[in-house]
Amino acid sequence: MLIKQAPDIRSSEITPERVYRNRRQFIQAASGAVAGAVAGGTVLGRYGGTLQAQEPIPGLRKSPLSTDDEPNSYEDITSYNNFYEFGTGKEDPARYAHEMSIDPWSVRVEGEMNKPAADVAIEDLLRPHALEERIYRLRCVEAWSMVVPWVGIPLGDVIKRFEPTSKAKYVKFETLYRPEEMRGQRARSLQWPYVEGLRMDEAMHPLAILAVGMYGKTLLNQQGAPLRLVVPWKYGFKSIKSIVKMEFVEEQPRNSWNVSIPSEYGFYSNVNPDVSHPRWSQASERRIGSFFRIRTEPFNGYADQVASLYDGMDLAENY
Ligand code: MTE
Repeated sequence: MLIKQAPDIRSSEITPERVYRNRRQFIQAASGAVAGAVAGGTVLGRYGGTLQAQEPIPGLRKSPLSTDDEPNSYEDITSYNNFYEFGTGKEDPARYAHEMSIDPWSVRVEGEMNKPAADVAIEDLLRPHALEERIYRLRCVEAWSMVVPWVGIPLGDVIKRFEPTSKAKYVKFETLYRPEEMRGQRARSLQWPYVEGLRMDEAMHPLAILAVGMYGKTLLNQQGAPLRLVVPWKYGFKSIKSIVKMEFVEEQPRNSWNVSIPSEYGFYSNVNPDVSHPRWSQASERRIGSFFRIRTEPFNGYADQVASLYDGMDLAENY
């Protein structure tokens, strides 16, 4: 892991002051910390020859909903990614995601809700909430997995503030569309912008979080900075990155992977060892960093908490 402390860094590498100040406000809002609490200095990480700023997030509490599994290394989590907006290779996001500017950042919230539609600055979106650390297993549909110490807030707490109406049956999310900064969007590997969705009861489940950090610092761009979804009982592609829009809708939205290859990717995408992907088995997975395969658990090991959401549904049919 290549971490440099601020004093060693050339001035050309330092985050512009305006960006740094905005980030600081966002973190202070996010952590509920008093002004000046982020005085510990900027820690900058260098990946694939690029530089991105991360900020330590103070005052984190640990969530009892964390897994006991050993987290993957910081290096693994930030260098082996899926973020097709920057290319289809696992190293592409770490190499190119710094080309996306994330400051300022706002989220458009609209649809079937009592509050008026609005562009909500990320600082305002996070301000009322206390951030916490949640260690989750992330199981990718490609049959690998990681354990990540996320920093985030329950998605349901954010949704409640906008008072969705009874017509709001689903929540639809969109990623930033900015092909000049996201080189993968200049190719047609997927339909852009990336779209994902959850049924309202899934979105309100306490395990679903909006993440803004990991390993106690703000997210790197390749991980979906500054704001991404994490839904631990579903395949990783449901955990949409760099969210700019959240919409409460009546109809089930079509998610990007389902639009691209409907025979292989459905809407629900619950981790299910009994339902093979048409081209490979889902019965086992390889934890990144380990040579051995382990058995995949139904709902990625979260069955006790979430299986009841799907009572009466045929999960082979609703994959
Ligand atoms: N979100 C966007 N916008 N674009 C993507 O290509 N890939 C998904 C998901 N979110 C993706 C995305 C997939 S396939 C996975 S497995 C996870 O992000 C990977 O998250 P990670 O890179 O943080 O491990």
